[in-house]
Amino acid sequence: MKSIFIAGISGSIGQQALEVLKKEWFKDNFKIVGGSVYKSWDKLKEAINKYSLKSVGIVESNENISKTFNGCRVFTGVDAVERSMEFCNPDYSLIATSGFSGVQNTLKAIDVSQRVCLANKESIVCGGNYVLDYAAKLKREIIPIDSEHSAIFQLLMGETSTPEKIILTASGGSLRDYPVEALENVSVDEVLNHPVWSMGKRITVDSASMVNKSLELFEAYYLFKIKNIDVAINRNSRIHSMVQFSDGVIKMHYGLADMKIPIAFSISYPERNFVFDKPDFFSENIHFEKVDFDRYPSLKLAYSILGDAPLQNAFNAADEIAVDSFLKGSIKFADIYRTIYKTVNEIQKQFLFSKSLKFHNIDDILKVDKISRNIAKKYIMEVIE
Ligand SMILES: NC(=O)c1ccc[n+]([C@@H]2O[C@H](COP(=O)([O-])OP(=O)(O)OC[C@H]3O[C@@H](n4cnc5c(N)ncnc54)[C@H](OP(=O)(O)O)[C@@H]3O)[C@@H](O)[C@H]2O)c1
Repeated sequence: MKSIFIAGISGSIGQQALEVLKKEWFKDNFKIVGGSVYKSWDKLKEAINKYSLKSVGIVESNENISKTFNGCRVFTGVDAVERSMEFCNPDYSLIATSGFSGVQNTLKAIDVSQRVCLANKESIVCGGNYVLDYAAKLKREIIPIDSEHSAIFQLLMGETSTPEKIILTASGGSLRDYPVEALENVSVDEVLNHPVWSMGKRITVDSASMVNKSLELFEAYYLFKIKNIDVAINRNSRIHSMVQFSDGVIKMHYGLADMKIPIAFSISYPERNFVFDKPDFFSENIHFEKVDFDRYPSLKLAYSILGDAPLQNAFNAADEIAVDSFLKGSIKFADIYRTIYKTVNEIQKQFLFSKSLKFHNIDDILKVDKISRNIAKKYIMEVIE
């Protein structure tokens, strides 16, 4: 029996991971030993009681939480996730924390676990090769959970030829049929109404703006070491991505749009032990559309900075700040892109002649994130609000 820790256990991916781990084969082969949240203490308590967890981490809390709860060691504060992970020393860590804070979680997971099942795309987006090189140095497995990257990972299993192109698929998000002129003033509820996937709030907003596809573009580049990447819209999200070879053959990954499938695969890899519903391929049309960059300007910007880790880091940091402001009602949907554009440009200017624009250690990564957040916040306060 292997032990597994779930960072972000209260979130959309974390909860689906728990569902997977309840299923046949998974429950006989895995013991959940720990988990972490930002502040969802109730969900954490529920997990402690249900799975008799060894240790948990909670970053922020209004209550005075004691060091143990029902026999479980509880860590609190900024490094709580890493400390609880270290305490559990799990065979596998599943990183489903949202946002930049996942980077530190992933680095600790690489220290303590043989396998990292990675949902937190920011770990790769914000650090470039840094996280992957660290995993390679310690001979750890990184298995992607993002459905597109899981698909590509699976398509390349057993392949000895390198594809000449990756084609990421996208649903187009909740605003895909809105007139472009209407995008300026859409409401939070309209943006959160995703046509296919049920996900956390930030990623749902990021799907509508294709910032999420931009982050996936960066992630794919580092994971698969291929720069020739296209994006195609597949509205019903049946094709989760494609790889194209020199002879023109395109391999596609077909499956239902349910995150439990790639979550399960990241845990059971190289086997498939998850039993699930089957798609009815006779009744489903597979159709692809080109991306309209006027509708999704973030993706155009993303292509222009692909492979430049500090700028990708700035892109992500600005989006985190802007999406938070959008969800609170302080800025408009279209301001998210403006904030990202402004921040990326500022970072490019500030570091233009400086060698420190390359990432040599985690402090460099943290520094660019911090400066970018300040630029984004200032822009929102002084220019938009
Ligand atoms: N949802 C999907 O379908 C999907 C698909 C592909 C990839 N992903 C990726 O998976 C990651 C998680 O996404 P999600 O949709 O599951 O997010 P989510 O529903 O918002 O859940 C985020 C989880 O991370 C915790 N968390 C947030 N900030 C934290 C911090 N600073 N320190 C420690 N823990 C923190 C949250 O705890 P609290 O509950 O206490 O806030 C929660 O457990 C993201 O990187 C996303 O891009 C998600």
